[in-house]
Amino acid sequence: MLHIVDHPVTEHILAAARDVKTTPARFRRLLKRIGGLLAYEAMRTAPQVDKQITTPMETMAAKRLSMPITIVPILRAGLGLADGMMELLPEAQVGHVGLVRDEQSLQARSYYERLPANIADGLVLLVDPMLATGGSAVAALQKLRDKGCKDIRLICLLAAPEGVRCVEGEYPGVPIITASLDRQLNDIGYILPGLGDAGDRLFGTE
Ligand code: PRP
Ligand code: URA
Repeated sequence: MLHIVDHPVTEHILAAARDVKTTPARFRRLLKRIGGLLAYEAMRTAPQVDKQITTPMETMAAKRLSMPITIVPILRAGLGLADGMMELLPEAQVGHVGLVRDEQSLQARSYYERLPANIADGLVLLVDPMLATGGSAVAALQKLRDKGCKDIRLICLLAAPEGVRCVEGEYPGVPIITASLDRQLNDIGYILPGLGDAGDRLFGTE
């Protein structure tokens, strides 16, 4: 289930993030801002609970988000989007999955995992700016399924058709929320037109 958030505001932010002239400092601010907006869309169908509250005028049955909610950035680049999501959802807990793609084989290698014990009890926002071959997303989804997570939503800034096919093939029930479905991968697994290497652009590495 692919959901493209084609809002004028997200398109505006994305255009700036893609621009080769954008500095790491600006790139970080842009990813934080769009991260909150993508999470807002991903939470549109989030489970809610009724809660009796008292306003200054009277009591009423109000709606609250059902907890726990867990934001899981895929390290490193997922941290950029996760910042904005934590601001939108300050009561969410945060888990981390460290994956790095081998530049030759394009296989994702796992190097870190720290997930809250109760993660399977609620909704999980899995976060990575780039869905390229889909290898990293599928490896992270496997870890979350192994923990018993059922309601997982994958949030990517950009998705390649190859990555969408890969995730939909392995995990057909997982919604993919993205700001853009880009054209294709190049022959070394980078998204076109894309934005380059998201981790390098966030952290000023090469
Ligand atoms: C990038 C990106 C994704 C992955 C996408 O991370 O942030 O995690 O590649 O590629 P895939 O869909 O083909 O798996 P990278 O491995 O470069 O690590 P980094 O975030 O530490 O820079
Ligand atoms: N990882 C990135 O950071 N960029 C791409 O285009 C593909 C994978």
